Amino acid sequence: MLANGDLSRLVTDTRIHRDLFQDRAIFDLEMERIFARSWVYVGHDSQVPEPGDFLCTRIGAQPVVMVRHTDGKVHVLYNRCGHRGVKVVAEEEGNAKRFMCMYHGWTYDTNGDLDFVTQPEGYPEGRHPDKVRDGMGRIARVDDLCGFVFANQSEEGPGLRDWLGANAVCLEDLADSAPDGEVEIRGGVHRYMYRGNWKFQIDNLSDMYHPAYSHESSSRPTGQQFARRKGDKGGIEFRGKRGRVKSMDPLGVSALPNGHSWQGGLPQIENTSELHREYVRRLEARHGPERTKEVLTKTRHNVIFYPNMAMQELNPHIRVIRPVAADLTEIFVYPIRLKGAPEQMFREQIRILNGTHSASSMVQTDDVEAFARAQEGLSTTGNEWILLARAGEEKVDPATGRVSSIGTSEVAMRNHYATWLSLMSRA
Ligand SMILES: [Fe+2]
Repeated sequence: MLANGDLSRLVTDTRIHRDLFQDRAIFDLEMERIFARSWVYVGHDSQVPEPGDFLCTRIGAQPVVMVRHTDGKVHVLYNRCGHRGVKVVAEEEGNAKRFMCMYHGWTYDTNGDLDFVTQPEGYPEGRHPDKVRDGMGRIARVDDLCGFVFANQSEEGPGLRDWLGANAVCLEDLADSAPDGEVEIRGGVHRYMYRGNWKFQIDNLSDMYHPAYSHESSSRPTGQQFARRKGDKGGIEFRGKRGRVKSMDPLGVSALPNGHSWQGGLPQIENTSELHREYVRRLEARHGPERTKEVLTKTRHNVIFYPNMAMQELNPHIRVIRPVAADLTEIFVYPIRLKGAPEQMFREQIRILNGTHSASSMVQTDDVEAFARAQEGLSTTGNEWILLARAGEEKVDPATGRVSSIGTSEVAMRNHYATWLSLMSRA
């Protein structure tokens, strides 16, 4: 077995070693070198609209609290008491004037500062706890784009916008597709775990080779899947004439710097429903016809914000990927509400999402089964390697560093692992 001493041996041009999915020491190193030192998605600021609103989540393995302070600023705090390290906030979300540790009653401000120490007379001169040092602790860098909040525990490295690169446009386009120019997360969450490594979900979101096989049961006898966006007569075609598998190569896939990637263009559709016409009217009132047309031309399907978030444009939602252990991952799926769009549109979005990405959906359940089987299959020792060699002609955009290729190319996955190796090799 390869140890984690020389990580570069685990990633070649076309193959990655099974230890990336099986080895606990590598998982721990990922939490330290990727999740604790890169921009990681935390939550959307619409989830904490009022001062005192908070949301508990994790950055890698570490529990954190995203909270709006009294000055309106969103902070991400380590969820630990400055006294004995006890996790302070136990609720998943809520509103609080202050946070109180259940162990010795210390309280904290919503910016993480220590507010009150019980029985303070017990600390002699010179030993009294410090407001900041013994506070909950704020994460070094917190920034947002269009309300999507990311946090980075390291002071070093690029700012959020530089880290996101061309992916920033995806969030801006999404915001512009809302008649009020903003999106919000306010439609509940689908949440589930699978028995497999977190990177399976990342790779799957840039994989257009698998649908005709993994998701065959979700297609009609004609080979066409059910409609996955409003106005579509049917979904994607897995099989064409005489039942032959239709390649998804024409859709394309792109690999971007820092491990990001996206799939698509998507086929354009003509949605003639009254609901859609109303939505277009509202968009045109904001942007005029030209930008509205641009915004409605769906150019991407899944967009990956490496390492832990993916957004789908087809039926707007995000997926947050939370690594729990080398062989256990939790997924959160949030529908995105386009503010100012007809409310009925959001209901339709949620209805479609229930069918595609809930724990009992017709699509994502196939993928989750594949992840669990991959985890099990990779426990065998006869072949230590995973093959990621599929490729097509590649075009490079020098302005953004974006490499685009045919849909079934594994270029985005190779890009995930090139980034993985470079992040993991930081001392
Ligand atoms: Fe899939």
